Amino acid sequence: MMDAGFGGTRQARRGEIFDTVALPGLVAEEDGEPTGLLSYRPEDGRWELFFIAARRPWRGVGTALVEALVALAREAACTTIWLVTTNDNLAALRFYQRRGFVLVALRPGAVTGSRRLKPEIPLVGAHGIPLRDELELEHGVVRR
Ligand SMILES: CC(C)(COP(=O)(O)OP(=O)(O)OC[C@H]1O[C@@H](n2cnc3c(N)ncnc32)[C@H](O)[C@@H]1OP(=O)(O)O)[C@@H](O)C(=O)NCCC(=O)NCCS
Repeated sequence: MMDAGFGGTRQARRGEIFDTVALPGLVAEEDGEPTGLLSYRPEDGRWELFFIAARRPWRGVGTALVEALVALAREAACTTIWLVTTNDNLAALRFYQRRGFVLVALRPGAVTGSRRLKPEIPLVGAHGIPLRDELELEHGVVRR
């Protein structure tokens, strides 16, 4: 499912590139079939939600994956889950903010830098919006 419109397994942000399938991950399943994937980078009490995708949206898969990650992080005494999304991904911005993430940074033009690492990143993203900025969000796992 990584190649089905989600930009492949190598994903770039903040001037670095990682292979999603080499990271720890969570898989959602329905009737034995994978319906969603989340990968994360557990580092120093601050975990990065690196990749999330649902094969079919609006069915609760993304919510279940985020809830599972938060529960894991809480058990591991992780204090914060952070992630990077892009200025065109209005659905993700809605999704994350509705699930307790708050915006903490805007990096104007940062996708242009990522494009040097991964030239196949398109110039135009979702909704025909020029794909150019990184937005960072955080979820305070232990703050409730
Ligand atoms: C962003 C993404 C991971 C969210 O996953 P999802 O499975 O669509 O998310 P959910 O279904 O859990 O939640 C989305 C909405 O569906 C609603 N929903 C959940 N289960 C539902 C159900 N059974 N019936 C109707 N609506 C439902 C939720 O209430 C939620 O709406 P809300 O934000 O108003 O609360 C998914 O849309 C996706 O794969 N996007 C493409 C990849 C991507 O952009 N990844 C993020 C990169 S940073």
